[in-house]
Amino acid sequence: MDFNEETALDAVLASFADTPDPRLREILAGVTRHLHALVRDVRPTLAEWEQAVGYLTAVGRKCDDTRQEFVLLSDVLGVSMLVEAINDDEHGTEGTVLGPFHMTESPRRELGDSISEVGLERPCVVTGTVTDLAGRPVAGATVDVWQCDEDGFYDVQRPDVQPPGNGRGLFTADDAGEFWFRTVVPSHYPIPTDGPVGRLLDASRRHPFRPAHVHLIVDADGYEPVTTHLFVADSPYLDSDAVFAVKQSLVRDFAVSEDASAAAAHGVTVPFRRAHFDVQLVPREETS
Ligand code: BEZ
Ligand code: FE
Repeated sequence: MDFNEETALDAVLASFADTPDPRLREILAGVTRHLHALVRDVRPTLAEWEQAVGYLTAVGRKCDDTRQEFVLLSDVLGVSMLVEAINDDEHGTEGTVLGPFHMTESPRRELGDSISEVGLERPCVVTGTVTDLAGRPVAGATVDVWQCDEDGFYDVQRPDVQPPGNGRGLFTADDAGEFWFRTVVPSHYPIPTDGPVGRLLDASRRHPFRPAHVHLIVDADGYEPVTTHLFVADSPYLDSDAVFAVKQSLVRDFAVSEDASAAAAHGVTVPFRRAHFDVQLVPREETS
């Protein structure tokens, strides 16, 4: 039988029918069905198809050990967050994208340390408690945090201005599950736009900005780790995150405090900003 618009889908599905791994067979069939449906729907010209292949080739060429343009593409298409949503447990603190800036290990720090190694002119204190679903403290949970500076840059983006590890910290919650650290309030910032994903945003008149946030990975023995963000409530772009990662449950006020005794207790000066973020972990055996 000729391979034409009517027979194409069945012919390709049949070619994968003997794939021994059932999950791989299911995925290959899904990719085939959806890709064929896309082509039948959009009806690209040959030149447009070549352009599509060229685009994906450029995305691949932009990838190296420190840059993952395919993940960035998945992020701006909302696919990373869709995968996250499909896999997120409905209990516990909600998860969001990991993002590309967790490429270096966070330095171990003591509770209360500053993660800003370049000064704390406008200090901020972040506090929180790690608990289980019943609200019982998870003592000794590890809390890995990383964020950009007040100008919207991660340490790896401006090594001439920020020492490695600036804006990062690996903390261990105390016996009450509590953690706290000093920092600066991160800025909103653009995702990397110097590659094919930037061209896509430009061509579609989309802005590249993410609202201000602190990244966290919280983990403890016997619990599912959660990769999430703490968003700054008065940040621009909270309702138009370039990578669709905002969840209302993760947005917190970073209120200005003039409380001199609270400032002294946390080793900062007034005025300072403070945010509180409790993290609920899901026990391992409760997830399917
Ligand atoms: C980030 O928050 O670090 C990030 C997430 C997705 C794409 C680019 C940056
Ligand atoms: Fe980020």
